[in-house]
Amino acid sequence: MMSKIISIHSYRRGSGKTSTAVNLGVLMALQGMRVAVVDANLQSPSLHILLGLDERHISYRLNDYLAGRIDILTAAFDATALLGITGEGEFFAVPASPEPRDIAYLLRHGYDLDLLHAGMRALAETLKLEVLIIDNPAGLLEDNLSLIAIADKTLIVMRYDSREFQGTSVLVGVARKLDGANVTLLVNEMPAGISAQEVIPLMSEKFACPVIGVIPHLDEMFISDEKRLFVLREPSHPVTKTLKEAANQLIRT
Ligand SMILES: Nc1ncnc2c1ncn2[C@@H]1O[C@H](COP(=O)(O)OP(=O)(O)OP(=O)(O)O)[C@@H](O)[C@H]1O
Ligand SMILES: [Mg+2]
Repeated sequence: MMSKIISIHSYRRGSGKTSTAVNLGVLMALQGMRVAVVDANLQSPSLHILLGLDERHISYRLNDYLAGRIDILTAAFDATALLGITGEGEFFAVPASPEPRDIAYLLRHGYDLDLLHAGMRALAETLKLEVLIIDNPAGLLEDNLSLIAIADKTLIVMRYDSREFQGTSVLVGVARKLDGANVTLLVNEMPAGISAQEVIPLMSEKFACPVIGVIPHLDEMFISDEKRLFVLREPSHPVTKTLKEAANQLIRT
């Protein structure tokens, strides 16, 4: 069975990559798929925060794999039960370390991109994943973008903010060079008063790229003392519906 690798990127920080990665992954698992989300944003990891994971749950992380201490499977945490996902689906998380000494180590020594790529392939194969979602750092550096080359789909997340438009155009262009036609865009934090039906054709034309969803700015989407993920907390919210459609578009093609 072939896994589908989806690599998530953005030009600027804080566009909503991690939130999108986790919510899409959980929706796919709820549909019965075997899914993993990997935190490849090693300089500012946050997957563990969204999932509420800490030392009580996880002993190994992507950093340990990249340092050659463990195989990639050891860094994969099965969060299916923790999230309360029932049915056929499974949701795995490969978190990265938020410890300053681990981040400092990576900044000083870097890591082997081939090892990262090999790890992603091994993870997909060993866990028999249908979907592997990779949450990347923002920006246009080689390390950040290298995963596009092994991905089946590239999803670029952009806040609806004119300061992001130019950089996102460049990112879409570069991604398309690396990943052919399989680049899609998700517009996040849409201000109130502008409709998705208006924005989708405008943005698809502007970026010459299919727009798979438009998500409004929602204060209640990320309440810090509310541990449950948005799509689990709000299964019938219109935004959950939009995310489901985006998930289906990513899986289908
Ligand atoms: N649609 C939204 N409405 C309101 N807040 C949002 C929305 N999407 C994301 N946020 C908030 O914006 C912040 C950044 O989101 P997130 O961490 O997912 O972005 P990111 O692209 O992964 O950031 P980084 O580049 O640092 O990895 C978070 O506090 C998140 O809760
Ligand atoms: Mg992030």
